Amino acid sequence: MKTDLNSLKNQVKEELKKEGGSLGVYRKYLGPKGEITQILRSLKDLPEKERKEKGKLANEIKNEIEKAVESGKYKTRDAKYKTQDAHFDITVPGKKPSLGHLHPLTLARREVEEIFESMGFSVIGGPEMEKEWYNFDALNIPKDHPARDQWDTFYLKNGLLLRTHTSPVQVRYMEKNNPPLRIIVPGPVFRHEATDISHEFELMQVEGLMVDKTVSVANFKAVIDEFFRRFFKKDVKTRLRQDFFPFTEPSFDVSISCVVCGGKGCPTCKKSGWVELAGAGMVHPNVFKNSGLIPKDWQGWAFGFGLERLVMMKYKINDVRLFRSGDLRFLNQF
Ligand code: PHE
Repeated sequence: MKTDLNSLKNQVKEELKKEGGSLGVYRKYLGPKGEITQILRSLKDLPEKERKEKGKLANEIKNEIEKAVESGKYKTRDAKYKTQDAHFDITVPGKKPSLGHLHPLTLARREVEEIFESMGFSVIGGPEMEKEWYNFDALNIPKDHPARDQWDTFYLKNGLLLRTHTSPVQVRYMEKNNPPLRIIVPGPVFRHEATDISHEFELMQVEGLMVDKTVSVANFKAVIDEFFRRFFKKDVKTRLRQDFFPFTEPSFDVSISCVVCGGKGCPTCKKSGWVELAGAGMVHPNVFKNSGLIPKDWQGWAFGFGLERLVMMKYKINDVRLFRSGDLRFLNQF
């Protein structure tokens, strides 16, 4: 019996040398019906002396196999006996960790900044919590003026308000900086409005201001034309029509030929071929005065547009509320 086990031990050693600690070897000897398993099971019926000797040898073989299987676990290529641990296919393509990305409005804002910066404009910021003076009075909108109704306002308990447009930064900037100047002011503005597919109470507005000795409407038209063509990457046309803003005179609304239908007429442009995207005009003398500049010395133009509308046109988005919905199905498309 003893020699039996000794030759079994040699046999196992040979196999382990050839195959490594494969599960094939494991099952053959230590599986439920394996040779060693059976020997170990039969020990209890043997006389004590034999049991000790045989048990010692059988356990040595068992340990040897287990050790080999343990250390060969992650190396085995034995396709027939793959376990979860052993199944490691190095040819499977890796999973890309999701990295997150910028919000479509941030991307658009950077694009706008880049275009204007290339035309010599500086990017300027201003407070979102604003004084009534800057948001209205300094912009030639006195307290009792009906034009205030154009901007539904969130008034705060601290006596300030949430700016309804970026135009107050015109005054703030001209107070501290002498012309000639060229700035854009991108930033959030707030309107006390009910929301629907085309209205939000928070918008990303971009203000533009250029002041010099002689600045004309033609000059504005050239800059805004260039901007829209570069932003939409299309040969869009720009149209100015007379409008009214208390802080500009004359004032215009700025439309571009519809980028969806190319000006032929479609639901986006309400069949007119044009979409209104911005307000603009020549800086009102009172605004210069309220900023500490002598009106007769300077000329300037200003514009303001909501970035959402531009992005909606560019990517054919039909609901402004999507931007702040946090809906990843929407956001992941950018
Ligand atoms: N501030 C205006 C608005 O929010 C837009 C505008 C800016 C108009 C500058 C003229 C000049 O509606």
